[in-house]
Amino acid sequence: MRIDVVSIFPEYLAALDLSLIGKARRDGVLDIHIHDLREATTDRHRTVDDTPYGGGAGMVMKPEPWAQALSAVLADAPAPRPMLVVPSPAGAVFDQAMAYELAELDHLVFACGRYEGIDERAIDWAREEFDVRPVSLGDYVLNGGEVAVLAMVEAVGRLIPGVVGNPASLVEESHADGLLEYPVYTKPSSWRGRDIPEVLLSGNHARIAQWRRLEQLRRTAERRPDLLARLDTGALSDAEREVLRAGGSAPDGKGN
Ligand code: ADE
Repeated sequence: MRIDVVSIFPEYLAALDLSLIGKARRDGVLDIHIHDLREATTDRHRTVDDTPYGGGAGMVMKPEPWAQALSAVLADAPAPRPMLVVPSPAGAVFDQAMAYELAELDHLVFACGRYEGIDERAIDWAREEFDVRPVSLGDYVLNGGEVAVLAMVEAVGRLIPGVVGNPASLVEESHADGLLEYPVYTKPSSWRGRDIPEVLLSGNHARIAQWRRLEQLRRTAERRPDLLARLDTGALSDAEREVLRAGGSAPDGKGN
């Protein structure tokens, strides 16, 4: 997959050299290019912003540097109509389903806005050559798109074959099946007076799978009841229904 990121703070994206994403870059699995928007300016001060028409606080990013920068990316694009992701608190909320969708594409371009955002005409102009998607990381406001891009590139990149060493770890994780992940434990089995759940020492894989599934439901009901609306309740066992009826509280009333 090819990924281009345009930002006035290219240094922010240096984290994409680290860990699994960095290794995938070095291995040639992810072809990531970081561009400085100011390189696309022509004036002495390398101006990228100006005051908003209609008044109001803050500055707006000028359209021309964006058109120049994105045209340069297009000139080097492997195929027509890349996906242009524009991080913005006014976008559709990013989730695992969107990560899977984006992971299917050959070329993602991220346009990191700063200040009060990018002149809307630049976004409209880009629609002629890109599929454009304004995307929000969540219902809060960041200072710019860079942190959101780090999160999205990691969430999408790790779904690309060859990025995560053990693909099985992608199957049993939070949100993979619409539920939160079950709790995990490692050695020692008893630590500071706390024992791991006995079932995990039983060697009975069917019991362990059933326990994990109930824990997923319990956690999801307690922490993210909104996710349960999408669950196919017709397919639930009696024990699973009981966990949901209890609203995520554990049999001892504590939850976890
Ligand atoms: N830029 C500013 N806030 C943002 C958010 N919540 N998500 C994505 N990009 C942003």
